[in-house]
Amino acid sequence: MCGIVGYIGNREASGILLDGLHRLEYRGYDSAGLAVVDGKQIKRVRVQGKVAALASKLKQEPLSGSSGIAHTRWATHGAPSEANAHPHCDDKGRVYVVHNGIVENYAPLKQELQQEGHVFSSETDTEVIAHLISKFLDENTPLELAVKKVLKLIKGTYALLVIAVAEPGKIVAARQSSPLRLGVGQDEFIIASDASAIANYTKQLITLGDGEVAVITRAGYTISELHGEVDLDKDIEEIDWNLDEAGKGDFPHYMLKEIFEQPEAIKNSLRGRLLVEDGQAVLGGLRQVEDRLRKIKRLHLIACGTAYHAALVGEYMLEEYANVPTEVCVASEFRYRKAILDPETEAVLVISQSGETADTLAAVKEAKEKGLLTLGIVNVVGSSIAQATEAGIYNHVGPEIGVASTKAFTSQLTVLALLTLFLGRQRNMSLVIGKRIAEELKALPLKIEKILAGSQLISQLAKKYVRVNNFYYVGRKYNYPIALEGALKLKEISYIHAEGAPAGELKHGPLAMIDSNFPALFIIPQDSVYEKNVSNLEEVRTRGAKLLAIATAGDNRLAGLADEVLYIPKTLEMLTPILSVVPLQLLAYQLAISLDRDVDKPRNLAKSVTVE
Ligand code: M6R
Repeated sequence: MCGIVGYIGNREASGILLDGLHRLEYRGYDSAGLAVVDGKQIKRVRVQGKVAALASKLKQEPLSGSSGIAHTRWATHGAPSEANAHPHCDDKGRVYVVHNGIVENYAPLKQELQQEGHVFSSETDTEVIAHLISKFLDENTPLELAVKKVLKLIKGTYALLVIAVAEPGKIVAARQSSPLRLGVGQDEFIIASDASAIANYTKQLITLGDGEVAVITRAGYTISELHGEVDLDKDIEEIDWNLDEAGKGDFPHYMLKEIFEQPEAIKNSLRGRLLVEDGQAVLGGLRQVEDRLRKIKRLHLIACGTAYHAALVGEYMLEEYANVPTEVCVASEFRYRKAILDPETEAVLVISQSGETADTLAAVKEAKEKGLLTLGIVNVVGSSIAQATEAGIYNHVGPEIGVASTKAFTSQLTVLALLTLFLGRQRNMSLVIGKRIAEELKALPLKIEKILAGSQLISQLAKKYVRVNNFYYVGRKYNYPIALEGALKLKEISYIHAEGAPAGELKHGPLAMIDSNFPALFIIPQDSVYEKNVSNLEEVRTRGAKLLAIATAGDNRLAGLADEVLYIPKTLEMLTPILSVVPLQLLAYQLAISLDRDVDKPRNLAKSVTVE
């Protein structure tokens, strides 16, 4: 979490840094700050609160200078406050640091520094870095060497930018497990947590690798390894999306824009990957491991949050259609389980929108340690997970900025369906079934457009239910994970309590909660478990609950059973989640708006969870 950005060039830095912070704010937004090199001094402005508050403060206290560093925070050590906001500096004001990550051994380091007389002014782990660099920095030790010395002492994760009064024309940057990208412009450089803060200024990017340290001046940059001295020759990549894709356009919120982008996003995920007539999926990212995949007897799907819900749907798809035994595990549990894994016949597939989620990345490392083939379904190109896995499939849905994942989720499901087709056709799946899946996948974008065209109805529904404090979301088989996802969406952006449950489990406990103020929303398309679901819905109805249903278009029976019905077009059972989740995303959004919530930046959350 946290977003960092640095600039060095010939323009005024503070505007560029502020613009970068605005674009990175999805990563954390409880405090913000920047420090600019002004001649021989460094000046800093910090606030508790959002980047807008920092912008107002900067109007009162403008900073002038053509290099600087900035930060938007998601608190880990120390409550959100101005004193805990970055940049942090040492007690002599010589060194300023912005940091994304966690210094795990900060407590003993801090104690040692305090014993030496250092005075700390924040509760953060980051401040020790500034003190330590200042301690090592002298006439014989340039900034980059002092930084390297400190990095060898600290344990944990970091993306770090450092400036020092003694070397005003330099930014030193370093990375370990937290993302950092260097934008190479015309006589200027921007270094940031992600490309959205850079794309306005240059499309030429270098991704810093773990254990790499960059020294950036107006004249150029060098990159070396923490434990080495030789300069590395890093490739420069070109950003292949424009900033309009990362902007809100005419939408009031990123989340709404991203919900409405889903038809296009799915087209992009499918582009060039479907051979409808052959009933085949072409997955270039898996070509190099195609033969190994033929031998796989078990697949472990690992992810967090919404991506974990995608994995749960994937399990149903892969077992039913590809005949591949599949297990799903939350990433934060996988690394602590003693999973029984066979490197000869099993593989791990992680799913992550950001490609930076610490727990998911740790699971990849754990699986590699055990000798397993590691695969990824990742949206952010060049992200840590994309680099760490041996092969994979990109989502290609462009930047997802809203904290609540929407278009990445439907794309993850689409890619899992492609993978099912791919693995299924390697095994027993017939041409006829393969063609059917391919045809239905191709038809999805139009079907989602139909659902989106009915969004007005959902906003009316939200007004009716806005005073409700609790919801059950209920589903079975492919739509059980969608019940979990619908409930998560509602919780995270509206703060209304919601639980997802498998329909068959209601009578094993949850039913006790049901009354007229505790509505249940059934996801109940006409699929192989439809009749069973109708019986469960009847059980809830009998107990006086208000009932909402997501049903297949033309299902008049449900109109007589539920208080409200939202319809989705008919599709293949395994693809129903890609449609049924869309009204749930819209419902969560509309309820959150009715409650005046900050949907793109819900309290206590951040988009990219780079801490354990
Ligand atoms: O970037 P990832 O897909 O790895 O993120 C995983 C979760 O943190 C993420 O899906 C989270 O649950 C979202 N806020 C859900 O909307």
